[in-house]
Amino acid sequence: MGKMDSSRTQNWKNSLIYLTFLLTIIHLIIETHFSHNLLFWNKESVRVKKISDLPLRFRYDGTFKILQVADMHYGSGSITRCRDVLASQFEFCSDHNTTRFLKRVIHDENPDFIAFTGDNIFGSSSPDAAESLFKAFGPAMESGLPWAAVLGNHDQESSMNREELMSFISLMDYSVSQIYPSTNGSMMTKIDGFGNYNLQVYGAPGSMLANSSVLNLFFLDSGDRVVYQGIRTYNWIKDSQLRWLRQVSQEFQGQKQDPLYLTDATPLNKPPALAFFHIPIPEIPQLFYKEIVGQFQEGVACSRVNSGVLKTLVSIGDVKAVFMGHDHTNDFCGNLDGIWFCYGGGFGYHAYGKAGWPRRARIIQAELQKGKNSWIGVERIKTWKRLDDEKMSKIDEQMLWMSNLSR
Ligand SMILES: *[C@@H]1O[C@H](CO)[C@@H](O)[C@H](O)[C@H]1NC(C)=O
Ligand SMILES: *[C@@H]1O[C@H](CO)[C@@H](O)[C@H](O)[C@H]1NC(C)=O
Ligand SMILES: *[C@@H]1O[C@H](CO)[C@@H](O)[C@H](O)[C@H]1NC(C)=O
Repeated sequence: MGKMDSSRTQNWKNSLIYLTFLLTIIHLIIETHFSHNLLFWNKESVRVKKISDLPLRFRYDGTFKILQVADMHYGSGSITRCRDVLASQFEFCSDHNTTRFLKRVIHDENPDFIAFTGDNIFGSSSPDAAESLFKAFGPAMESGLPWAAVLGNHDQESSMNREELMSFISLMDYSVSQIYPSTNGSMMTKIDGFGNYNLQVYGAPGSMLANSSVLNLFFLDSGDRVVYQGIRTYNWIKDSQLRWLRQVSQEFQGQKQDPLYLTDATPLNKPPALAFFHIPIPEIPQLFYKEIVGQFQEGVACSRVNSGVLKTLVSIGDVKAVFMGHDHTNDFCGNLDGIWFCYGGGFGYHAYGKAGWPRRARIIQAELQKGKNSWIGVERIKTWKRLDDEKMSKIDEQMLWMSNLSR
């Protein structure tokens, strides 16, 4: 008996030592992690997210300008080499050139808002997703401009899954990205994907529509890869997402107005909307045979499944243009059933591209109509691109939409 007692005591002692050891380790992990965070957060002891003024709104001059950044494919910074640049450019080219381009285009275009349309970071080249996200979105955070992102098919290939990525992105400085849509003040979590949300852009300050949304922005998660009926393909925008889109769109619809009785305080019927997502829809290949503005240089890497995105957009009617990424050397806008579909064109230097064909960004500008006494709803929406060449060339400017009331 005595022998057993002493071995029990021994076990007890061992367990105690073991427990102490464990607690010490946990303590150390928390300590180092915490101080690492403190350093990470710019040496300030308490950091909260810097918040953009919401709602987004038009400027006093009646314009609202969006910078679309498609496919940064950010890796780890200076050690991540450029792809598809001229042999002469290769040596001094890294992710830093993507950062440089982003700063440059923000400086030159002075946008009101930045929309990142996915493949913001590139899995295998970014072992630490958080670090890559900070670097990739760094210029946007420093600019203090409100910005939003959706995910592509590569973002989740490193240390965070899609839900973690969207939560992280939603917590970054000046980000107005959301993980889930919020309808009537509550988060709607029963929807496919992460990063489905809408943002409203209010009328010009001091105008009669200063407190109303005159332009709506929809962000949708087009997913990543999937095996469908035994075949590897891309994912697609699901029914739940289309139902949400339809519902929000219906809530935005104003009543039909007779232009004769229109006052500056009546929103134009059905404010226009724009949509942003990563993977092109299966109808985009049809544009190869149609008139387009820009270049169609590679096959469209879309899903084999057609979930009826185009049909939904046509029936809701307010989305006038869609902005996508994914196929880096396609940078065109083409029209399908009255809706424009525009590629951003590849932005990032670690993303595949075409040597000698400069990396590029898309600009979208909405302009308000002058009412009797003040700015009213959106009159027209234009787009153009900026190249990361010596002069930051502006190319392919085109009109995407004009209000019936101004025609
Ligand atoms: C990348 O940036 C470096 C300087 O930071 C510059 O010298 C080089 O020309 C850039 N490369 C490209 C392809 O823009
Ligand atoms: C939000 O509220 C409005 C008015 O009460 C209602 O018609 C609409 O269906 C609600 N939307 C959702 C998503 O619950
Ligand atoms: C918009 O809201 C602000 C603040 O509540 C108010 O002062 C202003 O008069 C409103 N403008 C219009 C056109 O309703």
